[in-house]
Amino acid sequence: MTILGIETSCDETSAAVYKDGRLLSNATVVQLFHSQHGGVVPELASRAHLKLIIPIVDDALKDAGVEKESIDAVAAVNGPGLIGSILVGLSFGKAMAMGLEIPFIGINHMEAHIFSNLINEPKPSFPFLNLTVSGGHTQLVLVRNYFQYELLGETIDDAAGEAFDKVAKMLGIGYPGGSQIDKLAKEGNPKAIAFPRPYLAEGSHQFSFSGLKTSVLYYLRKIGFDKTSVNDSRFIADVCASFQAAVVDVLIDKLIKAAVKYKVKDISVSGGVSANSELRRRLKLEAKANNFDLFIPELSFCTDNGAMVAAAGYERLRHGFTSSLEITAEPNLQL
Ligand SMILES: Nc1ncnc2c1ncn2[C@@H]1O[C@H](COP(=O)(O)OP(=O)(O)OP(=O)(O)O)[C@@H](O)[C@H]1O
Ligand SMILES: [Mg+2]
Repeated sequence: MTILGIETSCDETSAAVYKDGRLLSNATVVQLFHSQHGGVVPELASRAHLKLIIPIVDDALKDAGVEKESIDAVAAVNGPGLIGSILVGLSFGKAMAMGLEIPFIGINHMEAHIFSNLINEPKPSFPFLNLTVSGGHTQLVLVRNYFQYELLGETIDDAAGEAFDKVAKMLGIGYPGGSQIDKLAKEGNPKAIAFPRPYLAEGSHQFSFSGLKTSVLYYLRKIGFDKTSVNDSRFIADVCASFQAAVVDVLIDKLIKAAVKYKVKDISVSGGVSANSELRRRLKLEAKANNFDLFIPELSFCTDNGAMVAAAGYERLRHGFTSSLEITAEPNLQL
């Protein structure tokens, strides 16, 4: 069974080919030009997807050495995300499936993030606990079986990635901010500033990063930080390391506590923030100390990619789930 997966929900245009449980290709273009606007501009993102979708799908097929006639189904994300962006990949995917007279499968982007841990071996065994930490979501999900999700908790305000991006903006260190903070934090002292750890109520599986983000803002104001002047790089590194340590402490604490409570053996993370080197380092230590088997996606599967969509599409087709061509783009689609 050969599946073409298409991802266009935000600012990555990506396509991948997955055959008989094996990834053959994953072609991605990150729309870097958004950085000059300090964030993703939805209209520009959808126009860029329009230009990129055909060459990216061509690249994915070519890299896989697969002719489009031998594809068995096309899978594309139908939400959540930016409506104009979703529409490009979704319409293209549906049209391709219709032209080739093969099934189409609409994929939930948050399901696809979970599947980033099910692309290659070794894979977690069901039930496992997954934490998705991305630009728009922070979700703790008990994955009972294929397509059986129990959402244990999510953020009540900012997503983890959003907090990284906003703090990076305060510091004037560029967009997207997560990877910049990760890089600069390596030179900083994580104990330099005692930012709060938003654990919320005892035993809560919810998250909240807005207060932490505001404490960084107040701290910068208090010491008179001006991002437009030349700044002490040591100071910026300390802020990055201290903020990052607070986020990582909360994410790991909640993941481990939920894993103990739900008695799972396998835990995993996904989404752009799962590329964070400190989160990955600490997760490995904590998983080992608590006897959990940890699954972390390879870096190219953390941020948005077609591979996770193709893998989800493959399992959906294998389990007999296909979508009607009437399926619509849903910007607020829930898991
Ligand atoms: N090394 C890193 N450390 C921390 N955050 C990172 C790192 N690399 C990327 N990020 C963050 O990951 C986010 C992007 O992830 P992703 O592509 O999964 O999000 P999205 O698709 O925009 O949102 P969603 O999946 O919720 O719809 C950004 O907020 C970015 O700052
Ligand atoms: Mg995403």
